[in-house]
Amino acid sequence: MKGPGPEEALLAQLDRSRLPRHVAIIMDGNGRWAQMRGLPRTYGHRAGVESLREVVRACVELGIKYLTVYAFSTENWKRPREEVNELMDLLVEYLYKEIEELAANNVNLHPIGRLQDLPPHAREALEMAVSRTRHNTGLVLNLALNYGGRSELVDAVRALARLVKEGMLSPEEIDESTVAAHLYTAGQPDPDLLIRPSGDFRISNFLLWQLSYTEFWLTPVMWPDFRRVHLLQALVDFQRRERRFGGLSRGEVSCCGTGS
Ligand code: FPP
Repeated sequence: MKGPGPEEALLAQLDRSRLPRHVAIIMDGNGRWAQMRGLPRTYGHRAGVESLREVVRACVELGIKYLTVYAFSTENWKRPREEVNELMDLLVEYLYKEIEELAANNVNLHPIGRLQDLPPHAREALEMAVSRTRHNTGLVLNLALNYGGRSELVDAVRALARLVKEGMLSPEEIDESTVAAHLYTAGQPDPDLLIRPSGDFRISNFLLWQLSYTEFWLTPVMWPDFRRVHLLQALVDFQRRERRFGGLSRGEVSCCGTGS
């Protein structure tokens, strides 16, 4: 008789009561995936949509509360115009194709980034998806679009400066919680787990504030090949980690260093 497959084995190891509340993913490696196959880069992005679909479904099934995916950065405008256009068209296609399933799965779509600078058809599709899923109470899907961690902080600083100028806030009142409350992710817990496929070891201007104590899980698998099984591997590995948030582990005798 055949034993359990890799997914079943991982599911058996997973403690459903200790899942991360918030998972963030840098969906990287689309271009290389395509180039390795002698295909134009845009084929990689198209294949990456299937990975996104599968990961969203898996997060819904598992009951993960927040998923943030990096779909387009503030730096991605530097790419050839055809690639940028294709990414915007893919976004629109994804939203119109997936909206019924997202809505039926109680997903709340929450785009983050400088959305005002996206092309009109992308903004229109996002408005449709946001209004269709506004009252949903399940997975919050943060779609990072024209997103940059630095520009998010600039936007927060500007908002706080305006409040100070209007006399609504004094500089002394500003603390970490005030800053967090002016980020695009206001009201959400910070990511517990960051997944970066494709073998690179960079943050790439993603969630610079929110990732302060996040556990990283890196894999050489390219995003278009990323499947449910890889998410389960990341989750099982996450549950083996000890998170100390700068303190000491339970029972550890104080010694030296700053903690991590
Ligand atoms: C990075 O790979 C990926 C992107 C810039 C786009 C990510 C988009 C998708 C996964 C498609 C789904 C998106 C939407 C909007 C629904 P890369 O092109 O930098 O890959 P490389 O590092 O191999 O060149």
